[in-house]
Amino acid sequence: MANFKLALIPGDGIGPEIVGEAVKVLDRVGEIYGHTFEYHDLLMGGCAYDAKGTCFPDDILPTCRACDSVILGAVGGPKYDSLPGAERPEKALLKIREGLGLYANLRPATVHSALKSASPIRADLIGDGMDILIVRELTGGIYFGDRGTREGKYGEETYDTEAYSEFEVKRIARVAYEAAMARDKRLCSVDKANVLDSSRMWRRVVTEMSAEFPEVALTHMYVDNAAMQLVRDPSQFDVIVTSNMFGDILSDEASQITGSIGLLPSASLGEGSFGMYEPIHGSAPDIAGKDIANPIATILSMAMLLKYSLGLGKEAQAIEDAVEAVLNEGIRTADIAGAGETAIGTKAMGAEVLKRLR
Ligand code: IPM
Ligand code: MG
Repeated sequence: MANFKLALIPGDGIGPEIVGEAVKVLDRVGEIYGHTFEYHDLLMGGCAYDAKGTCFPDDILPTCRACDSVILGAVGGPKYDSLPGAERPEKALLKIREGLGLYANLRPATVHSALKSASPIRADLIGDGMDILIVRELTGGIYFGDRGTREGKYGEETYDTEAYSEFEVKRIARVAYEAAMARDKRLCSVDKANVLDSSRMWRRVVTEMSAEFPEVALTHMYVDNAAMQLVRDPSQFDVIVTSNMFGDILSDEASQITGSIGLLPSASLGEGSFGMYEPIHGSAPDIAGKDIANPIATILSMAMLLKYSLGLGKEAQAIEDAVEAVLNEGIRTADIAGAGETAIGTKAMGAEVLKRLR
């Protein structure tokens, strides 16, 4: 029995719709297991820009810090695409990750057995299934490096910089090694060490740390090869650890192998139990407000919240089981419906998960 304070940032596009369903699921879990969740609503992204003239209002960081964790929908939309980089909704996302010290982004990608036909990858290539955990560094690299314009060989040029310290590589590698220890003890570090100095340092540091984790089988892969291996033989991977940008790209790729980007949850963690939980997909402005978005990624993010930040393992399992049951029974939103299958909407999918919570 406990009361938890959660910052709630629905954001833009489909954000409010999917977060709405996730909150219902969380509240139902609370009723069943005797916990209460207290939500602190915050505006961030385009909606905040419209209401307050900034995508990242001052109340965000203090309110989040006063809570146990953060639930986020998605931010951004075409309306804000012409804003200067520093004022865009996406920048708010980087600021909240950095401001809360959330350097470790866990993105699990699993192919549900009932959804093998939704995957664009042939069933025989998926084999017994794919169960990958991408550990993406989230507060460093080219997303945060030095940037600007300068005089170059062909006149003025614009640049962004990929930079990592050994400290940053070590702390993300530790998260990945520990995750591998709790799974199949296989870790693949993805870099571009054949070209980039920062990647060579990354590879050296990750390799040195393997002495601390002798049971983990460590391999290295160049990012171009990793992108190819993911579609050639996805089940070869257990845990992947990689930089901010490579992780961004590979996690979208891995998500599609599972059938839909609408299924994948994520946790962003720092030191301690505080975390931020969000689907890996974006705000999908093209389908916003139509009650057709898949809420499962956000609902599964609530399971990660319960497990990683609130220490409620069996409650997390209850959500995962309910989602599994829904999928096994052939209940589908448009993104995962096969030929001849009927698709239900966002709210209806949320209700189906709710019904199966035990
Ligand atoms: C993600 C998104 C973000 C990122 C964007 C919206 C800034 O693509 O969380 O994967 O690149 O980190
Ligand atoms: Mg992304």
